Amino acid sequence: MTVTDELQATIEQMVQPGKGILAADESLPTITKRFAAITIEATKDNRRAYRALLFTAPGIEEYISGVIAFEETLTQSSADGTPLPEVLAQRGIVTGVNVDKGKGPLALSPGDIITYGLDGLAERMQQYKSQGARFAKWREVYAITERNPTVLGITANAEMLARYAAVCQEQGIVPIVEAEVLIDGDHSLARCAEVTEAVQQEIFHALHRHHVVLEHMIFKPNMVMPGKEHPVRASAAEIAAATLQVFRRTIPAAVPSINFLSGGLSPEEATANLNAMNAALPDAHWALSFSYGRALQQPVLQAWRGQADNVVDAQRALLKRARLNGAASRGEYQANDESMNSLS
Ligand code: 13P
Repeated sequence: MTVTDELQATIEQMVQPGKGILAADESLPTITKRFAAITIEATKDNRRAYRALLFTAPGIEEYISGVIAFEETLTQSSADGTPLPEVLAQRGIVTGVNVDKGKGPLALSPGDIITYGLDGLAERMQQYKSQGARFAKWREVYAITERNPTVLGITANAEMLARYAAVCQEQGIVPIVEAEVLIDGDHSLARCAEVTEAVQQEIFHALHRHHVVLEHMIFKPNMVMPGKEHPVRASAAEIAAATLQVFRRTIPAAVPSINFLSGGLSPEEATANLNAMNAALPDAHWALSFSYGRALQQPVLQAWRGQADNVVDAQRALLKRARLNGAASRGEYQANDESMNSLS
């Protein structure tokens, strides 16, 4: 199989109507924080048990086409000893891996943030591929202040994403290109729209400069909405309208799928907003789906609390959110679906 055939096969498996992606790529500090909130310790075995719970949840393969894993996950196994990437593959779910090395300040550009991890990336990618990964994720983060992100911040971040995506495609790995304009702050919806548009314009310019094939990538953006400290909240319909206006201006039709991050939204808000996008633009060039972390996992962690006796309930909680987001990706979700149990 050529590299192009490989990329095409992976994209076809990842982009399917009514399906999205589960982001389960929490780094060690992040999973430690999530487990602390349910008063359990992030021991190696608890991390393994939790991921096995997620990946073996009955029925999720109907709504989840891919899972983004943290690198440690690629070497872990389910209770019966099956490697976790194999557990996913047996269910027709593609394994991906977060390949960035986290973020820090952009030197000499106060308030701007940059992500690390390009050195040795091609070699790491070969290793992940041999462990079963078929796609990757890299996230750049943009904080909104009066002066940030600066033009330099926007340009430097776009360059990182494009270089990462090019390395991925050269290795036959589908890149998820993630650009998160943070929800923190008191900025308006219009300010978020302005920043998101500038960020995305620059990213697609950089992807073009670096010869990234748009048909063989997935874009993972924030939704356009007011900051969480802003006095006025926006409705799902307003968020959808503002987000889609930016996308029409910035994202080429060749991109097969846009899979949103949830970025601190409640599970219900994340689902309602995604549904509003698909209801507003049913014939979009791109699929509009999800790649949620917290909005899929929050109810699962609450149900599980580290207890083996709670695994079945926790898996039902995951199936419910996966099913509702699957419906939202078709524009078929209704708020009263929230009160139904996971099997209905
Ligand atoms: P959230 O949905 O919790 O924002 O996580 C998605 C993700 O992959 C962030 O990098």
